[in-house]
Amino acid sequence: MASEKNIDQSATMVAFPHKHLLGIKQLSPSDIELILQKSAHYFELNRQARKGSDLLKGLTQFNLFFENSTRTLMSFEVAGKRMGLDVVDFNAATSSLKKGETLADTAQTLNAMGPAVMVIRHGQEGAVAAMCAHVTCAIINAGDGSNEHPTQALLDAATILRHKGSLRDLNISICGDIAHSRVARSNIYLLNKMGANITLVGPKNLMPDDLSALNCNHIESLDDGIKGADVIMMLRIQKERLGDNKTLSDVEYFEQFGLSRERLNKAKTDAIVMHPGPMNRDVEIAGDVADDQTRSVILEQVEMGVAVRMAMLDLLTQNIRQ
Ligand code: NCD
Repeated sequence: MASEKNIDQSATMVAFPHKHLLGIKQLSPSDIELILQKSAHYFELNRQARKGSDLLKGLTQFNLFFENSTRTLMSFEVAGKRMGLDVVDFNAATSSLKKGETLADTAQTLNAMGPAVMVIRHGQEGAVAAMCAHVTCAIINAGDGSNEHPTQALLDAATILRHKGSLRDLNISICGDIAHSRVARSNIYLLNKMGANITLVGPKNLMPDDLSALNCNHIESLDDGIKGADVIMMLRIQKERLGDNKTLSDVEYFEQFGLSRERLNKAKTDAIVMHPGPMNRDVEIAGDVADDQTRSVILEQVEMGVAVRMAMLDLLTQNIRQ
């Protein structure tokens, strides 16, 4: 158990070789292991009554969310505050973007105020990476379109590790709208790098165009797709990204692809159930399955989200603390 005073780990600091966290794609297995180790430390620390630290006191964190968010935004905010950063949220709706200022100019302007870190979520794939050219601070991608959501995959991996001890050779079924899910994509990259076996489950029209390049199995039926799984990860249908890609009604979708109690009963008895949220109860997952604390780790994922984000803030500010 981590000691309450022992939050500053600079003595045992292992260098993190990246300035930004843009995606899992750019990370090596040892980078991922380092983040997961640090996250486990912060997870324990967060279970203590006093969770605060002044490790990053005097540094500033800007959160720029151009898309809706509940858990990602709040957990980045609480993570920053627990690390001692001054956290400021940018309000896109009332900003000068509405007056025609470009994203690049917005980034450059905010960077001139001297933040150590900008956490950015944007609806366009690649938009977060493009901001790097206009800032000197570290950037964390909090989701860019259907591309990547690296901290979600890291918190999912850290949660799986707590329950299964290792990622290597685990059977992980990722179920639902893979095509539009940045969570799925980041998870696929991470789990492949760490040696897990991945099965993507769901209808063909919700599978990504580059399916054959992703090193995953594909099974259409949920009953077959979760057989033998150690981890069942359910995903929301990203209706806002579907375009002309029509899907079933909510009732039909639940009948064919929803994780009901009956279906879960046919899976391995120690399979854990995950969901990144926000969930649509009784569409992709039955409400009672989501609430079943003996199988569902959904709220633990949220708890882990704060720890992983504290770990990332720690690692990405190492160079300016030296
Ligand atoms: C996801 C996202 O925004 O990509 N949510 C999250 O960050 N936990 C998934 C979703 O919106 O379905």
